[in-house]
Order: sequence, then C-alpha cells, then structure tokens
Amino acid sequence: MAVRQDVVPGAETTEAQIAVHWKEEEYVYPPAKFIGQANLSDPAIAERFQEKNFPECFREYADMLTWDKYWHTTLDASNPPFWKWFVGGKLNACYNCVDRHLPKYKNKAALIFVPEPEDEPVAFITYQELYTRVNEVAAVLRDFCGLKTGDRVTIHMPMIPELPITMLACARLGIIHSVVFGGFSGEAAGLRAADSGSRVMIYADGYYRNGKIADHKASADIAVEHAEKEGQKIDKVLVWRRHRGQYLSAKPMVEGRDYFMDDILKDFRLRKVDPVSMDAEAPLFLMYTSGTTGKPKGCQHRTGGYLAYVTGTAKYYQDIHPEDVYWCMADIGWITGHSYIVYGPLALAGSSVIFEGVPTYPDAGRPWRIAEQLAVNIFHTSPTAIRMLRKTGPDEPKKYNYHFKHMTTVGEPIEPESWRWYHEVVGKREAAIVDTWWQTENGGFLCSTKPALDPMKPGSAGPPVLGIFPIIYDEQGKEVQAGSGRAGNICIRNPWPGIMQTVWKDDERFVKQYYTKYCKNRESKDWHDWPYFASDGAVLAPDGYYRILGRVDDVINVAGHRLGTKEIESACLTVPGVAEAAVVPVVDEIKGRMPVVYIALRPGVSDGKRVEQEIVTTLETMIGKIARPKAVHIVTDLPKTRSGKIMRRVLAAITNSMDTGDVTTLANPDVVDQIWQEVQGTGPVVKKEGPEDLKRFGEVE
Ligand code: WT7
Repeated sequence: MAVRQDVVPGAETTEAQIAVHWKEEEYVYPPAKFIGQANLSDPAIAERFQEKNFPECFREYADMLTWDKYWHTTLDASNPPFWKWFVGGKLNACYNCVDRHLPKYKNKAALIFVPEPEDEPVAFITYQELYTRVNEVAAVLRDFCGLKTGDRVTIHMPMIPELPITMLACARLGIIHSVVFGGFSGEAAGLRAADSGSRVMIYADGYYRNGKIADHKASADIAVEHAEKEGQKIDKVLVWRRHRGQYLSAKPMVEGRDYFMDDILKDFRLRKVDPVSMDAEAPLFLMYTSGTTGKPKGCQHRTGGYLAYVTGTAKYYQDIHPEDVYWCMADIGWITGHSYIVYGPLALAGSSVIFEGVPTYPDAGRPWRIAEQLAVNIFHTSPTAIRMLRKTGPDEPKKYNYHFKHMTTVGEPIEPESWRWYHEVVGKREAAIVDTWWQTENGGFLCSTKPALDPMKPGSAGPPVLGIFPIIYDEQGKEVQAGSGRAGNICIRNPWPGIMQTVWKDDERFVKQYYTKYCKNRESKDWHDWPYFASDGAVLAPDGYYRILGRVDDVINVAGHRLGTKEIESACLTVPGVAEAAVVPVVDEIKGRMPVVYIALRPGVSDGKRVEQEIVTTLETMIGKIARPKAVHIVTDLPKTRSGKIMRRVLAAITNSMDTGDVTTLANPDVVDQIWQEVQGTGPVVKKEGPEDLKRFGEVE
C-alpha cells in the first residue's frame, strides 16, 4: 500500500494536535502579590514531604481535620494494594465541613448558588443555614427513609445547592453517597444504582440549561425501571423541587414511591441529627467511572484519607482561605466537584460557588459577569471550557472588572496557546495558574505546580504534588528517564491518602486494573513493589515537570469526561441490524476528543441511514448526551487480527488521518484501503505525526 508521509495539503492543524508536538515552554512566574498571601509559601515544605518522611508527612494534611479519635497508624500497607490510612482514627466528614466552622464562620457564605436565569437572585447559604438544612435532610434520610450507616444512596441531580446538602446529610450519617452526573441518562443512573445496591434515589424535578427547563424527573422513572431490571428495587424516590411548591416535570409522581422533599421536610424543621463518628477507613462515597470493560466501576473512597487529602491539596494548591470567593466551574457529579467544590473547600471554611448553567449562556461574558458580581478570586475550570469561551468570546473578559489571584485547569492536557489566553486575557496576568493532573480514582491532585513556589510551564502539569512519587515505565517495565524525550506509562510508586480503597464489590478488578501491570511480585508485602498504573501516557522533562499525553487504554476523554469505548460499543450493539461496532476517538478542536463509531451491518440490512440515526439516539438514552458521536460510519468490514480482535488502533489512525502502521498482520488487510475510501473519501493520506494517545489507542490492556 502506498502511503504518503507528508502533511495533508490545506488541512488545518488543530490545537489539540499541537498539544503533542509542542516544545518545552519558558517558565512563567507567579505574581509577588500572590506569593505574599499564599497558604503555602515556605520552601521547607519540600523537605517535610521528602520520600524519607513518607508516610508520616501526610500527618500534616490529616491534622487540618478535627478528629473524634486520633489515629495510631498513619499507613498500614501490610496487605497490598489495600492500603489503610490513619488507622484507628475516627471522624465525621460532615462535621468537618460544616459544624466545626460555626463558632467562627456561621454567618459567612458556605455555598453561593448562581441560577442560570440571570433575573433569578443569587442565593448565599451561610454555614449556619447549611448546618440547619443538612441536619433536616439527614433526619429525613434516617427517619423517613430508614437509612443507616453503610447504606448506599444514589443521587442523580443537577447543579443546585440541594445536591451538596444531600451529600453532606449522607456523610453525617455515614451513608455512602453515589452521585451520578446529572447529564447521564436515567438508564445510566439506574444501572449505577443497582450496582451500588441503593434502595433510595434522590432527584430534582428539573433545572435550567441553555435557557430551557430540563425535565429531570423523567429520568427517575427510567432509572427505577432499569435498576429493577438489574434486580435492585428502589423503594423511594425523593424529589427536590427547583422552585418550592411548583413542579417543573411533566411526569406524574408515583404514589407510595415518589416524595417531594419540600413536603417531607415540613415534618423535620430544625431537627438535629448527631454526626456519626466514622472509622477513618469507612467508605465515604462511590463515584462511578468508565474503564476498559463495558461496565462502569464504582470507585470507593474512604473517609479519613480522602478528606485529609482533598483538604490539604485544596489549601496548598488551590490556596483557599476562608475569606476567598472560590468558583470551580466543574459539575459536582464528577470527582472534581466532589473534591474541589464540596469537600475540600468546605473543610477549609471556604465560600464555594455553585453555578447551575452553561458558561456560554446567554453569552460568553456570563462567567466573567459572575466573577465581577460575586468578587470571585479563585477560578477553576477545564481546557474544554477555556477553548469554548475563547472561541465564542475572546475579548469578553476585558469588559468585566474582576480579579483572580489563582486559576486552575483540570481534566485534559491544555495546549500552550489556550493556556496563554487563560493567563493573559482571563487572568489579566494577575493570577498564579495550576494545571492539575489526576483521576477519579485518585481523590485529589497528583501533579501540579505549588502556586507560590514553582514556576508555571504552559502545557505541563508540573512536578508531582507533595508526597507523590511517580515513575514512567515503558511497556517492558523499564524506567523512562527524565529528559529522554520518550513517552511511557506514568505510575505512582507509593500509596497516598486520596487513592480509592477498591472498586465497589470487586477487589479483583481493583488489583487487576491498577496494580498488576508493573507489580513484579504479587506475593510481596512491601508497597515499593506495587506501583499504581494510571493508564496515562507522559513525558518527563529534565526539570522534573510531567507533561501528560492522555489515555493509553480504550478510554476516550471527551471534554474532560471519561467514556469507555466498550460501554459505547455495547450500546451500539443493541441497535437492530448492527453486527459489529468499534469506537475510536477523533481530535476535536473544542472538546479535545470525541467518539467516532464504526458499524458493520448484518447481512441483508440495507437501511444504513436508519441505523446511523438510531445509534445516536441509543447512545443518548443509554449513556447520555456526552456520548453523542461526532460521526457514525457504516463500513463493509472492520479491521481484525487473525484471532478476530478488532484493531481499534487502525481505525483511530484512519479517523485522524494518521499512519496506520503495519497492517499486513491483519486477517483482512484489504479492508484498510476500503475504509480510507469510505471514511476520508481518499486513498491513504497520512499526516506525519499524530497525538501520542491516538498512536497507542487500545494497545494497553
Ligand atoms: C483522566 C481522568 C480528576 C480530573 C477530572 C477528570 C485526564 C485529567 C489532566 C491534566 C492532562 C488530564 C487524564 C486522566 N486528565 N487531568 N491536568 N492534564 N490530562 O477525571 O474523568 O477520572 O479522567 O483525565 O487522561 O487519566 P477523570
């Protein structure tokens, strides 16, 4: 096969592609004004967190919390990789985020709710009010629902203050919450509820999005039905009404199952519920995330270690002080929201903004208006949001009088060009910026610059955070050296307090997914033998800064959110007429990556257009709108190995006009040319280079 090795004539190189080729950038230094007020400005911290002080260094984080009983062992690593942190300690997460702040801060805003409609007033919820409301909800959960410590509750809610209030009420009782992102479908929520064994689900009737009311209660009925199909009966659905006494949904309430929270709460006014003193190792919550198999896994996070880790990192890396106005524009339904909208900021007595809407509605000036109106001084968002705001309103920030001292980016690699706009235009060159790399499994940051102590380097996540000791391995398990310019698989050599405990009900999957790849001796009881495999590619610069290249497994990072290709593929296979499905990522200028679906039809099926449309609607109902593919291609056959394995790497290469590499080992090499023809309308035309994650897509099992 003749393959041209030059760049496609006239094809634009998108920002996301530059991300992989960019050169090492010059340092940018944090402003003196920021350094002067930073929580972490003592360089001696590096010494305290040296490897020789591990694991005791993490006492510094745990000591930021209020313990009912102090722990006796900082880390029990005797049963790898099931680490135990702050063993023997007891505490309550809700108490730490609410009650303990009352003496000093009861009249200060804990949560600031910004509704999407601009004519609806902003709600300032003080710590005192939060305390009252959390107690009342805890009373409902305990006395109306009969829930107790250790039970699971699935919360499928949008960005309204009742979401963190409900989470904290669970934490008060030691009920394990499992929040499902509001944008996921009812079916996705139902499956997660069933996996967690929840018999109570909590909903909102509706919410505002892009100027319209979304009927969210409609998802509840679907969720209950699907949970029951999976064998999990849902006894009660509690429904928060977005406007008290007014019902936004078209779906009727089901008698004896569905209850309006505002009605029930009438019987629980000003009720107090003592926080339950929890073991440090008791699970605090589950967060489902996509992995390499079709079924999402419930990442189980512990109480003491998790809370200590998010509090410590929020203090040192987000620089949150009680007097700051902190706005993280993520959704609470993702780990970023759990750690850095709810638990971290509230444990520090911060004021945390909750924004209901989309950042570009009604126009791209909205975030900056909010920042001005509320005097936000710490801002946290994703590269996707930055690219979108830059594209739709590049000059909007200049029109508003706000001042950020600190800014964060999270979720995907950020290309230096977007970083610079963020720094210069959004941040007005006044802010320290941290690019934070981590994952749902990790609880909190793994790589980031210390905002007052380390220079920023556009496009690099930075050095490992305090107490984290990464290593990059190649496929053979050899260390990839700093400055070698070679990419490898980033791993963390040591346990840390924020790491998940296990996959809910699936210890084996936990060990296999994260700890088997580079473990040399499965019998070893020494944590040094158990590196955590992150599934990300990375390059280490000579200065010790890590550049994260993206997933090396078959997870697609869409707008900073994780989708499993197998999850999408199994949904596609439910569409009548589909014989085989393969899903690969394509570079998208705004969202980083998007899924592209390849379909082979069953013999005799000819209505390809119908199949294409049904694929799209099926993905929306089975997973959610975030799974909407950028394209659906019906092809004659999919490239396969002789053993019948679909070669997703080859499809990813064609989709992104990259070199397909050696295809002679395929069982059906001819199909490659056919697909080029069908998909790109040309013969094989390749760009010289492509993003690292696409080159290796689906390779690492
Ligand atoms: C994946 C984790 C916890 C953050 C929200 C996403 C990618 C995350 C960065 C970053 C480059 C990043 C990785 C990671 N990622 N942050 N700063 N730079 N890539 O959590 O849904 O669990 O996804 O997001 O590929 O593995 P998540």
